[in-house]
Amino acid sequence: MQQDKLWNEWHPVYIADELKEDPKQVQVLGEKIVIFRNDKGVHAFKDICIHRGAELSLGKVVDGRLVCAYHAWEYDGTGACTKIPALPCDRPIPKKAKATVYHCEEYLGLIWVNLGEDPAPFIHYPEAEKEGHRTIICGPYAVKANAPRVIENFLDVSHLMFVHEGLLGDVDHAEVVDYDVQFVDDRLITSKIPVFQPNADGRAKGGYTDYVYEVLSPIIARFTKTTEGEEEELTIFTAVNQEDNEQTKVFMLLTRNYDLDQPDEPFREFQDTIFYQDLDIVQSQKPELLPLDLQMEMHLKSDALTIAYRRWLDELGIENGTMPIDKEKRSRKK
Ligand code: FES
Ligand code: CO
Repeated sequence: MQQDKLWNEWHPVYIADELKEDPKQVQVLGEKIVIFRNDKGVHAFKDICIHRGAELSLGKVVDGRLVCAYHAWEYDGTGACTKIPALPCDRPIPKKAKATVYHCEEYLGLIWVNLGEDPAPFIHYPEAEKEGHRTIICGPYAVKANAPRVIENFLDVSHLMFVHEGLLGDVDHAEVVDYDVQFVDDRLITSKIPVFQPNADGRAKGGYTDYVYEVLSPIIARFTKTTEGEEEELTIFTAVNQEDNEQTKVFMLLTRNYDLDQPDEPFREFQDTIFYQDLDIVQSQKPELLPLDLQMEMHLKSDALTIAYRRWLDELGIENGTMPIDKEKRSRKK
């Protein structure tokens, strides 16, 4: 169940606008994948040519077909081999000559890959389409840590005052009031958690802002910040790709309904600053795999959200927060 859950999950792999005519190699759960674009959309294949095992990502896209760099076999968007130059033209292309195809979609400005046979539905992110809202993409950030550690850091309220002191929190306002966490509509959601913002998002403020966190999948979470009596709303959506056992790539969408006429760059720079403040800490955490046994590590009431996240992973059977790295491992655990 657990591995199927992740195997059938959508993983963010690339910023859609940055995938131009050349194919690119990405990695999901230890699997090397080539992605490319043609006029039918984006495509993902296992990054290996069935002829002699060369990586297809070393090739190029010609007339919408992915051409292997080694002997120029051509694959169309469905993975079928449509041309073998060494084959005399009166001989048919063997049926076996095709690529292993994965689900691949463009959504929210990102390219997503799904390795499963039964893909989960896409996570809904209504803010991205809401009128009067603007969404920018931050990252991807490379992190040497496991995806659940990264997600948990994103969900962690009580570090804001220390790691992001002066930016997202204030050491003299470090107490976290009790809040609720509920499981509604397939996701965890908190009640409003007030956090004192000394100078929220670099804007002169000072005062309490409410955070509402949601965990949408084992690898996707978000929060929305609002301040009572004000219209401004900022949502940060984080999706983490577990590339292999050691490395993740983190994509963040920032959606704001204010300063729409202002340049995006300062928002991106601010998010970069925040992210790099967390990086050393997240990469230092031991054990690398998030302990789901709540007897390990120590938990406070202020950690209610991350406790709920661990319990949820546990219910999904995501043992020790590990991600399956290959199908073999996956079936062995069944
Ligand atoms: Fe790809 Fe020969 S290895 S065409
Ligand atoms: Co942080």
